Amino acid sequence: MNIRRLEAHEALPLELLLEADPSEQLVRRYCADGYCFIAEKQETVIGVFVLLAIDAATVEIKNIAIAEPERGKGLGKRLVLVALEEARKLGFTAVEIGTGNSSFAQLALYQKCGFRMKTIDRDFFTRHYTEPIIENGLECRDMVRLDYRL
Ligand SMILES: CC(C)(COP(=O)(O)OP(=O)(O)OC[C@H]1O[C@@H](n2cnc3c(N)ncnc32)[C@H](O)[C@@H]1OP(=O)(O)O)[C@@H](O)C(=O)NCCC(=O)NCCS
Repeated sequence: MNIRRLEAHEALPLELLLEADPSEQLVRRYCADGYCFIAEKQETVIGVFVLLAIDAATVEIKNIAIAEPERGKGLGKRLVLVALEEARKLGFTAVEIGTGNSSFAQLALYQKCGFRMKTIDRDFFTRHYTEPIIENGLECRDMVRLDYRL
């Protein structure tokens, strides 16, 4: 898997980005303002992550996704670790990531990569998304924010 920055003239891997965030409008906005990286396997995009600065010291992983057939093979973990490394290279000293209260696999993954829970934004998903999101038999309502000190 080769990971590189998406160049300005290249199309966004929208299908993949929408797997992590159903709002195309939000996705397009933060991709335009942030740093989009892609992971390729034999010239096919199989992964993506987007870094967006919160302030001069902190950057957020706004989106991260691995193509369905490639999941569960350790690639998501590799992508998170590369995102931390790229954030360090860009000069940030902390990385944040947010996920849903019902996203058990993501909560496990980020903590396995060294992230610690920071805050909970109650009813974030209820406020920002019109359709209810159900995951693991549970309504996704609150955003759990985690951080990693570089
Ligand atoms: C989230 C995502 C990027 C993870 O990618 P992946 O390639 O499947 O992840 P990995 O194979 O690297 O596995 C992740 C780790 O989490 C662990 N994990 C997953 N579910 C778990 C659970 N319920 N309990 C404990 N650990 C769990 C795995 O065991 C693995 O850890 P390990 O390497 O120590 O065994 C991928 O599932 C995806 O693209 N999902 C859709 C988009 C999305 O939800 N993005 C995140 C939005 S917040």
